Amino acid sequence: MTDTTSNQMWGGRFAAGPDAIMEAINASIGFDKRMAAQDIAGSRAHAAMLAATGIVSDSDGEAMREGLLTVLSEIEGGSFEFSTALEDIHMNVEARLKEIIGDAAGRLHTGRSRNDQVATDFRLWVRDQLDATEGALLALIGALLVQAEAGAEWVMPGFTHLQTAQPVTWGHHMMAYVEMFGRDLSRVRDARARMNECPLGAAALAGTSFPIDREMTARELGFDRPSANSLDAVSDRDFALEFLSTASICAMHLSRMAEELVIWSSAQFRFVALSDRFSTGSSIMPQKKNPDAAELIRAKIGRIFGANVALMTVMKGLPLAYSKDMQEDKEQVFDAADNLMLALAAMEGMVRDMSANRDNLEAAAGSGFSTATDLADWLVRVLGMPFRDAHHVTGSLVALAEGKGCDLPELSLEDMQSVHGDITQAVYDVLGVHNSVASRMSYGGTAPELVRAQVARWKEMLG
Ligand code: ARG
Repeated sequence: MTDTTSNQMWGGRFAAGPDAIMEAINASIGFDKRMAAQDIAGSRAHAAMLAATGIVSDSDGEAMREGLLTVLSEIEGGSFEFSTALEDIHMNVEARLKEIIGDAAGRLHTGRSRNDQVATDFRLWVRDQLDATEGALLALIGALLVQAEAGAEWVMPGFTHLQTAQPVTWGHHMMAYVEMFGRDLSRVRDARARMNECPLGAAALAGTSFPIDREMTARELGFDRPSANSLDAVSDRDFALEFLSTASICAMHLSRMAEELVIWSSAQFRFVALSDRFSTGSSIMPQKKNPDAAELIRAKIGRIFGANVALMTVMKGLPLAYSKDMQEDKEQVFDAADNLMLALAAMEGMVRDMSANRDNLEAAAGSGFSTATDLADWLVRVLGMPFRDAHHVTGSLVALAEGKGCDLPELSLEDMQSVHGDITQAVYDVLGVHNSVASRMSYGGTAPELVRAQVARWKEMLG
């Protein structure tokens, strides 16, 4: 006699139901219910194909497709009761379908397995997420372009080793981030193009003896083609890993930018003011305005990296084809996706709202002997000195200015000539920060004219 507590989907050979601990470790419904819409879309495509190929009757196919829509509306309306005993979203949906349409529901699983089903659902979910990430990246890039255009000619210090190096333009600095997030955008698009193959119909691992039409289900679900190898189809999670690694690189970019915003908004720098909408106060220090959103972006990146490492680790020891280990893929991806979207949206908001303090940027741009390279270049260009000698002479001038407690443009011509007699008044032209940035006209340089051209190029590319 069959124990009625054994699983109604696979419990035929079981005499008893699972231990409570077994149920707890086995069930994924607590998280994979997020794939309900994808599961139902996959099942509806499968049902249509089963009817079109004559594997089930048209009336059964229609009943399944209609019934699945009812299940979807129950889930979306919040009236659906999820059961842990039914393990996952796939069996929860199918069991409810049976209650709604009766025995025809039992034919839905013909020529398929939960292995190709979950691979299909998860792929659809990740594909939606890649599309959402693309949208969020475009919005962030749009906000950066607005900043870059407004401040194409504002000067600020450029840093190496976080020490003042040479003057750059605010627009150029914003456009550096556009390049970074632009590469993220192209990685998202690459990943989407590569992952868009349909595993449905690979069945458990070997394919099926039913005359299914995999082209039809692939087309119906918006995939470019069915995946070519059934073993690979059910055991591949590269699409999730590519999402996580793409997300990790993007998160690293977000974190670097967040770090700059934390530094720039400090009282010591005062390069930018973040808006009230994206700052918080302190409960004890009334004067404080803290860049919490930037700090949290910087911190959230850890869990995205973590998800990438976690799933790589889950996958690395698995023999072909499906193993239950792979059920651990979803929570990592869901968490990384949620936090990436939040971080992208918060960064976009901060960038849109922030105001650069043009005067402070300009004052800082000229400090720290930032035009020393311009001076050395002048010695090369005008006096014909070898660069190495010019470097040395400029170093002596910097030391002289440092000794006098002034910046390079404040040295008198007499002082200059005490280091090298051929220096003329014309040298002062290159010591100003505006002249310095305007002279950086080599392709990819910081000159305002080039920054404007890059803004225009990106606008055109993004349409
Ligand atoms: N919940 C499972 C998962 O997420 C579905 C696939 C189960 N397949 C199986 N052969 N037990 O991976």
